[in-house]
Amino acid sequence: MRKYFVLFAAALFQFIICSAQKKTIDQKVDSVLGLMTLDEKIGQMNQYNGDWDATGPITKDGDKQNQIRKGMLGSMLNVTGVEHTRTLQELAMQSRLKIPLLFGQDIIHGYRTIFPIPLAEACSWDTAAMRLSARIAATEAAAAGVHWTFAPMVDIARDPRWGRVMEGAGEDPFLGSVIAAARVKGFQGAGFGNVDALMACAKHFAAYGAAIGGRDYNSVDMSERTLLEIYLPPFRAAVDAGAATLMNSFNDLNGIPATGNKHLQRDFLKGQWKFKGFVVSDWGSIGEMINHGFAKDGYEAALEAVTAGSDMDMESRSYINNLSKLVKDGKIKMQLIDDAVRRILRKKFEMGLFDDPFRFCSKEREQQQWNNANNLAAEKMIAKKSIVLLKNDPPPGKAGMGLLPLSKQIRTIALIGPFIQAVRDNIGFWAYSWPDDSSRIVSQFQGIKNKVSSNTKLLYAKGCEINDSSQAGFAEAINVARQADVVIMSVGEASDWSGEAKSRSNLHLPGMQEELVKAIYATGKPVVVLMNAGRPLIFDWTADHVPAIIYTWWLGTKAGDAIADVLFGDYNPSGKLPISFPRTEGQIPIYYNYYHTGRPATSDSDRFFRSAYIDLSIYPKFPFGFGLSYTRFDYGNIQLSSASMRANQSIKATITVTNAGNYDGEETVQLYIQDLVGSVVRPVKELKGFQKVFLPKGQSKQVSFTIDVDKLKFYNSELKYLAEPGDFKIYIGTSSQNVKEAAFTLTQ
Ligand code: BGC
Repeated sequence: MRKYFVLFAAALFQFIICSAQKKTIDQKVDSVLGLMTLDEKIGQMNQYNGDWDATGPITKDGDKQNQIRKGMLGSMLNVTGVEHTRTLQELAMQSRLKIPLLFGQDIIHGYRTIFPIPLAEACSWDTAAMRLSARIAATEAAAAGVHWTFAPMVDIARDPRWGRVMEGAGEDPFLGSVIAAARVKGFQGAGFGNVDALMACAKHFAAYGAAIGGRDYNSVDMSERTLLEIYLPPFRAAVDAGAATLMNSFNDLNGIPATGNKHLQRDFLKGQWKFKGFVVSDWGSIGEMINHGFAKDGYEAALEAVTAGSDMDMESRSYINNLSKLVKDGKIKMQLIDDAVRRILRKKFEMGLFDDPFRFCSKEREQQQWNNANNLAAEKMIAKKSIVLLKNDPPPGKAGMGLLPLSKQIRTIALIGPFIQAVRDNIGFWAYSWPDDSSRIVSQFQGIKNKVSSNTKLLYAKGCEINDSSQAGFAEAINVARQADVVIMSVGEASDWSGEAKSRSNLHLPGMQEELVKAIYATGKPVVVLMNAGRPLIFDWTADHVPAIIYTWWLGTKAGDAIADVLFGDYNPSGKLPISFPRTEGQIPIYYNYYHTGRPATSDSDRFFRSAYIDLSIYPKFPFGFGLSYTRFDYGNIQLSSASMRANQSIKATITVTNAGNYDGEETVQLYIQDLVGSVVRPVKELKGFQKVFLPKGQSKQVSFTIDVDKLKFYNSELKYLAEPGDFKIYIGTSSQNVKEAAFTLTQ
């Protein structure tokens, strides 16, 4: 009897799919849902990691293959490659209802071609470039059978001790929001249904970046105002840009784990924001609510999570083990399960997987994307835009021009430091190391060698390891430096010192590296320092002495070529910091958009009338928005079209920017606004716009911003989002600290 039922159901299912061509996706979803047993529904809400060895999927942890055949699995992560995804999808096609699997993967900054780490890319402030890098990553990954990326990470980060700052766009909600939208659009491309579209997943919802003490996974305690003003906007922007999914976060927020947080997932996301996609838990985070002390066991954890709006369980098995009983016990209504399953099935339909579950499995496409020259060229372009020039003074004892760019004809260059010859490090954390990578990744040494004249002699000494306690290599490095006309040093933190579970309490250059910089500087040779890191590091001595410093982050496959272009002037650096660089760890958290206190900070010399340290400046070493160019941009005064406006009007703020130096270059003109008096205290400045302008040397351009009431809104004392009449200041300039200002009034 059971056999006949199965055959009948399968035939009916095929009939529904075939006759459903004219139905809307929601109708199709409902048709499938109507055929599903409770266990099959719960299966859709279940996601496992895919372990592989040479013989195929490993099934040690439960019988995953059989669970797929039984329709007990909706999705897998960490399975890539056309061959592997096809094998598993074939198993899903043996299930009663043949519901295709979704394959998800952390495609964070590239798949085959590795792009700069997201924080580095954010330094470009170039949303078209970031959209392109996400697009290429999606094209390469989709060609390898992947449907879904767990990116972009849109967590605001004000604490560089937190290792995951490298995955996001820095500290600012406005910049974070435009970048979130660009990345979502880049991943999802022209829309689902295309075989190069990856579903995006904005993560980690929410406030994960505010982990106390910068310790990954730690608790978060924050006001509703800070949540609304600072941490939620990039998620909202991602949802508005059409993000297919969101991932919740490991942290608790004011005592409620994000995974079981109704306020976040039901009130904001699925309520006010009308999010139609689905929410996946973070890895094991449903089960981890037991460790939080928020749920007694898996049964309670599943109950809390599903009630709060977590639709898919990544790897904790809480749903597969408990949901059925919860429904039978009457603790969870079927509507809640149906809502989650509907959301998941809708995406599978939109991705075209019901029409053809193997549509992402094309060997030919996978091959085409494996060594794609256009993708590598785009990577180099974006890597250059991500580089930040922090300092460019003349060499010691010389006046005039900065040390950079260097001439390609220099006779002898000494290359010193643990990163000069490094290969794998250049692609950073969350990057795939393929077996043939070493021939594709351009080291700094190789990039410089490709760039200089054939007469230039390159000398090399490592000097020390990344985290050395010995100075044994110093003598050789000093000897090499003495023979050179210029020294390029490459120092920093290891590429796997940032990323998940990579919090650091000490952000100084590890080991003996700053000592090495001092020793080489003492030779009197002109020194350029390349800083390699996944977060803002602290290197005060270097910053105060060495004439030229370039922050290179981790730049991806073509890192060495991009860095060489900047060092030797084939590209004029244009990156601007999306995060403040502290002077010491004691300044953290540090960010530009702080509130005025009753004793406002105005300078470092006035100790009492402000909230200051007695032993340290209150200002960061390098502020938000800062980054130099080989040329100089002069700013005129701000011209306002009017000194006042009503709520239904707007004001145009115009400024003339002149390239007054000797190189063509690109500037990021930044607009900040300050509300002088509010029903609640307002930040000293908030980024509200920016424009990138390319100016040939000697040329000027008028740059205009339109200020409308939306740019003046904030959450008032009742947390209503509105603008209050009163006086405002506008700041336009080259960084958050170097600006021109003007004033206007919003009238009733
Ligand atoms: C991370 C997520 C990631 C997931 C799957 C978790 O540990 O927090 O960002 O997407 O693993 O790899």
